[in-house]
Amino acid sequence: MRQRTLCLIKPDAVNRNLVGAVLQAIEAEGLHVCALRMIHFTKAQAEGFYAVHRERPFFDSLATYMCSGPLVACVLEGENAVARYRTLMGATNPADAAEGTLRKRFAQSLEHNSVHGSDSPESAAGEIAYLFSTCDIVSR
Ligand code: CMP
Repeated sequence: MRQRTLCLIKPDAVNRNLVGAVLQAIEAEGLHVCALRMIHFTKAQAEGFYAVHRERPFFDSLATYMCSGPLVACVLEGENAVARYRTLMGATNPADAAEGTLRKRFAQSLEHNSVHGSDSPESAAGEIAYLFSTCDIVSR
């Protein structure tokens, strides 16, 4: 099934000039970039993006980190894009991530884990709508 998913290249990765390396891995996997922008979240915007984690003990620290510098947001498109991009990212905690995955290669810690990806087609739709308007997205 052809799907879209949201990718964030987080501030730790942007800060270390890893945008190109992440995008190269995404394109090598055969996923298509169909929208891309750089964003510097305010605290309120970061809290809104991660609202599903509002009750978690790490929420405030996560939101503070996510507005500490610019990030890159991309919409990815392809067959089974949600699951394929999650496999490419690897486990949330880089200590558990498989060899060759983005988080194994680039992440610094559980919080500074370099990339985000939607966890379902439904959350992808909400996350994409939070950051992009329809006319920003070019179907591939
Ligand atoms: P992400 O895939 O963006 O989804 C939520 C983020 O919260 C996650 O990546 C991590 O950056 C962060 N996170 C998840 N669990 C923890 C935790 N236990 N402590 C700190 N940060 C966490």
